[in-house]
Amino acid sequence: MELNCDLQSIFDRVAKTSRTIAVLGSMNADYTVETERLPLPGETVSGGPLHILPGGKSANQAAAASRIGAHVMMLGAVGDDGNAEFLLSHLQDAGVDVSAVKNVPGPSGTTVITVDSHAENTIVYSAGSNAKVDAAYAQRSADAISGSAALGLCLESPIEAVNRAAGIAHKAGVKVLLNNSPFRADLPDELIADSDILLVNEHEMSQLLGIDEPDDGRWSSLDWDALAHRMELFGFHEAIVTLGSQGAYVLSSLPGAPRSVFVPAVAVHAVDTTGCGDAFMGSVLAGITAGLDLGQCAHLATYVAAYAATGVGAQSSYGTSAEILDRFL
Ligand code: RIB
Repeated sequence: MELNCDLQSIFDRVAKTSRTIAVLGSMNADYTVETERLPLPGETVSGGPLHILPGGKSANQAAAASRIGAHVMMLGAVGDDGNAEFLLSHLQDAGVDVSAVKNVPGPSGTTVITVDSHAENTIVYSAGSNAKVDAAYAQRSADAISGSAALGLCLESPIEAVNRAAGIAHKAGVKVLLNNSPFRADLPDELIADSDILLVNEHEMSQLLGIDEPDDGRWSSLDWDALAHRMELFGFHEAIVTLGSQGAYVLSSLPGAPRSVFVPAVAVHAVDTTGCGDAFMGSVLAGITAGLDLGQCAHLATYVAAYAATGVGAQSSYGTSAEILDRFL
């Protein structure tokens, strides 16, 4: 099944909702250099100037949702270094509520990123303060989580904290959107049970479900209805699988819902794909909170992520609704 929906009316619905999103997880300062090509092991290549940019998968998700008009609360930890204020101020500029973020001794989360001339990247993550987000912190954040319409989680934080946050949300009837990134094949059973929707890319899906990737690279050739069933057997009744420039599939095994919906990609000249998956996730959170169905969420997210691919960095490349509409309509 293919989707047909109006982007302007979707943005309008996101802007109108007063329900909030909680995102618990990572904030990183991304030390980013653009190079012609990525270095091989043991090789040195010259790059352009060093950019220090606001990032971290969770912070990016929060910023992306907030930029398009959603109300977002960030939960997590920054350190006591100069990057702490840098990270928080960028989130605040995007409109994210950072009042519940804790300060801990030591460095904030950081990454070292290289981006090549084809917009591909490599990322090395140093958790820093993100490693100090524990189950007790998630528990102390229970009111913020329970009072939200949706909770966003990824795996750049200690799994105990992720599990606890998901458990609190599930018990309170808050929709949990889990991004299995950085990828883990051994997702805890309790986390699967407490999550409503899984967001993965095509490679993560293949690893998770143990399926072969298509030889010709054409993901549309797979039987996506059957994959929805495989996803259900794995434990997720709803999932979104992103396929980069090939679009995305929304999978469901819920009664009455189509098993799979194809969402076409939006063609852009990509400069840097860092944080595009996070922009997608943030938009899905915004859509869920506004009461959109998952197909509409993915449609919205496809545009928001495509816009993000046209600028350098993660949060620094995210657009507002007006900017995104202006670019694509
Ligand atoms: O997904 C992109 C993000 O991954 C970057 O901002 C970096 O901080 C890493 O967490």
